[in-house]
Amino acid sequence: MANVDFSNRDSFGSKFGVIAATAGSAVGLGNIWRFPYVAGESGGGAFVLIYLGFIFIIGVPVMLSEFTIGRRAKLNTFGAFKKLAPGKPWFLVGVMGLVAAFLILAFYSTIAGWTLEYIVKAFSNGFENQNTTVVFESFKSSTFRPIFWQITFMGLTAWIVLAGVKDGIEKYTKILMPLLFILIVVMCIRAVTLPGAAKGLEFLFKPDFSKITWNVVLEALGQAAFSLSIGMGALITYGSYIRKDNNLPVTAIQVSIADTLIAILAGVMIFPAVFALGMDPQAGPGLVFQVLPELFMKMPGGYYFSIVFFILLAVAALTSTVSLLEVVVAYFVEELRISRRKATIIGAISISLLGVLCTLSYSELKDFKIFGQTIFDAFDYVTANIFLPVGAFFIVIFLGWFLGKKVIADELSNEGALKMKFFGLFMFIIKYIAPIAIALVFLNSIGIIKF
Ligand code: PHE
Repeated sequence: MANVDFSNRDSFGSKFGVIAATAGSAVGLGNIWRFPYVAGESGGGAFVLIYLGFIFIIGVPVMLSEFTIGRRAKLNTFGAFKKLAPGKPWFLVGVMGLVAAFLILAFYSTIAGWTLEYIVKAFSNGFENQNTTVVFESFKSSTFRPIFWQITFMGLTAWIVLAGVKDGIEKYTKILMPLLFILIVVMCIRAVTLPGAAKGLEFLFKPDFSKITWNVVLEALGQAAFSLSIGMGALITYGSYIRKDNNLPVTAIQVSIADTLIAILAGVMIFPAVFALGMDPQAGPGLVFQVLPELFMKMPGGYYFSIVFFILLAVAALTSTVSLLEVVVAYFVEELRISRRKATIIGAISISLLGVLCTLSYSELKDFKIFGQTIFDAFDYVTANIFLPVGAFFIVIFLGWFLGKKVIADELSNEGALKMKFFGLFMFIIKYIAPIAIALVFLNSIGIIKF
């Protein structure tokens, strides 16, 4: 590692910048698009309850673990493990994270592209007097438009990543994140005042435990990990840009709360509308795109609401795609020693190529199946439900059993400057609770053990 010049590494400029960028990574399509669709497919309330449990017993500790690894090593995911565990195979966790970044960004950019189409549709009043399901189906099954938007979105992502950490990522997320939050709150207020809203709230908040299977539990774990951006090193990478005086535990807790709040608010925005309009909560990945335009048309000022909403959704997606691409770019720059510019271009182009296959899963390649799933669904399922839980498992094991208490205590307390109230609890969770919980869920749902 001698050839890495730490003094010149970019870092986040302010405390708020750290929170904004990390929250920007966490809050995205995972909250607004994926959470409602998976919750809908998984039966609502009971799923939501388990998801919330996982956020706090696994999500927060893993996030904190990633920050610790990143800030300690001051390197990309792969390099961080190499540096902290020289000569040991832990770098494979970093490799897995890089693969996950490619796969997630590939399918994520499909949906991110959809948001751009919907901005245009919103502006041009494209939902007026239309059946929104038909509008959605015909768009997603066309060949070129979705690819065009996907590539445009990847271009936007690359443009922000190119500007670097402080002037790119931090500058934009600092303005965009607070704006996003305010807009979502406004939308929620509108949604819960719809006639028939109560049924949707009941679906979301009243747990029906008969709906729980190990698969639902795994979906909840996968969704918690996906939504918090944990398990693949995005937050190791961001952690490496966090300065020494930042309070990591406080940042992890604040970001997790913000992320969870936004997911729940997204649910509050979607499900009352689903039920009020007699739509299907199990509509799958198209849920948000089918339900919301319908809702907008029934709202006074819906034209403006729809424009604002889809811009907001695209922005939320962008701050997440930036963090995914940054994982790859940081690796290319620090390990393969290529310029940031080249790294960004190569990363964005190769991911776009993979991404086009995901987008085509809705048109040309819709009958092409891997284990019975389209390429899109397979990437979505495998990353969220396998890569991220497995990654999270090894990250907590690495911290709990390998890195050493002293190093962790140093990072969490900023070398003794901060009081650590929950250190014992944190260590207990990462040594035992989190890994055992992940292993149990995982092995049960893939059928290796049966409870
Ligand atoms: N958390 C992001 C979202 O909710 C997605 C993401 C996953 C980003 C993993 C980075 C890493 O949209």
